[in-house]
Amino acid sequence: MSEAPANLDWFLHDRFGLFVHWGLYSLPARHEWVRNREKISNEDYQKYFDHFDPDLYDPRVWAEEARNAGMKYAVLTSKHHEGFCLWDSALTGYKAPNTPARRDVLRPWVDAFRGAGFKIGFYHSLLDWHHPDFPVDGLHPMRDDLAFREREQDRDITRYTQYLHGQTQELLTQFGKIDIMWFDFSYARQDWGWAKGKGKEAWQSEKLLKMVRTLQPGIIVNDRLDLGTGDVKTPEEYQPRAWMEANGKKVVWEACQTLNGSWGYDRDNMNWRPVVMLVRMLIDTVSKGGNLLLNVGPTARGEFDARAIETLRGIGQWMRLHQRSIYGCSASEFTPPPDCRFTQNGSRLYLHVFSWPFRHIHLDGLAGRVEYAQLLNDGSEVKMIEIDPHQESQNVTIQGKAGTLTLEVPVQKPDVVVPVIELFLKS
Ligand code: GLC
Repeated sequence: MSEAPANLDWFLHDRFGLFVHWGLYSLPARHEWVRNREKISNEDYQKYFDHFDPDLYDPRVWAEEARNAGMKYAVLTSKHHEGFCLWDSALTGYKAPNTPARRDVLRPWVDAFRGAGFKIGFYHSLLDWHHPDFPVDGLHPMRDDLAFREREQDRDITRYTQYLHGQTQELLTQFGKIDIMWFDFSYARQDWGWAKGKGKEAWQSEKLLKMVRTLQPGIIVNDRLDLGTGDVKTPEEYQPRAWMEANGKKVVWEACQTLNGSWGYDRDNMNWRPVVMLVRMLIDTVSKGGNLLLNVGPTARGEFDARAIETLRGIGQWMRLHQRSIYGCSASEFTPPPDCRFTQNGSRLYLHVFSWPFRHIHLDGLAGRVEYAQLLNDGSEVKMIEIDPHQESQNVTIQGKAGTLTLEVPVQKPDVVVPVIELFLKS
């Protein structure tokens, strides 16, 4: 079997995906880095393993909520930094089948999402705070336990890397076609004096990537193996100011964002982002040629909590009416007016209006280029005028500007979180 480059066509069309962070950290429900933040030992963390029992888990319900929100692909944490594995790996006992759950919880997820027409991906942690051969460094939960560090100083990273490669092989040979491999993360440049960060040497990234591409031809691999940009650059928890570049060249990118600042279920975190902010984030991303991977952290009972469902359904209401201004769209050659974004798909130009203006929207550079305009939510016509550039502003007459197309919009903002005006460009 030969290596094949990533197939990005579907990815660049679908634009919107679901990220799911689920593991033992869903039980303490204090962020997925709880072991690091609270410096919890393996022994003290064992209680979460002994109580992992998601009795309400039905991934078909997750898939339905994601599909309804307009998401087209999904990425689940097969293993996060805590080291707990959701599937029945032959290489460890630290896995879901050995908990009160008594089953592989990854396969039903794959079957449910694939069954609902989603493209499938795995988020797999390169770090492993549970594995006995993973050398302790400055991110490890036991970093400040000098006796532990002393006792464990002879850990052999090559044995851990063998485990990492072995499990990656399991994931890419036992679950059918996998479309995305989302590795996380490399920190080779960090140095704590007593320990160094880990990157491509530690993970043997070139060898790992070669295996991944051979086992799953066309798979998309992200940019966190310490091998440059990968197939997709993954900014996290911020919105880039423009289409992302590497070495001066525009690259494929995907913003990964949370609903409240935590990837894992974080019970007492009330910092939920309003639906309008998330819809604008999706639009802003596509207007800069990117994808959005929006995260949910399910509870320990195996459900999306009510706040996450409410948010997804709010996004879904907007996507039901406006999805063609997202799917198959990318950045536009035209510059939008203030407080607006353009997305474009061939001769269809979508003006996303973030703050509804009074009566007029002036589109510089579009005079003579548009044959028809309508509000996308209800298909109602939007009148277009080209003001004579020689016209002076006097009383009710507006100053004209050469090359500008002016849209006449209703005073009442359409009852959608972000109104969109669909412009049919002349060919
Ligand atoms: C960050 C977080 C990690 C999360 C990842 C997702 O690296 O630290 O917990 O899984 O982002 O992008």
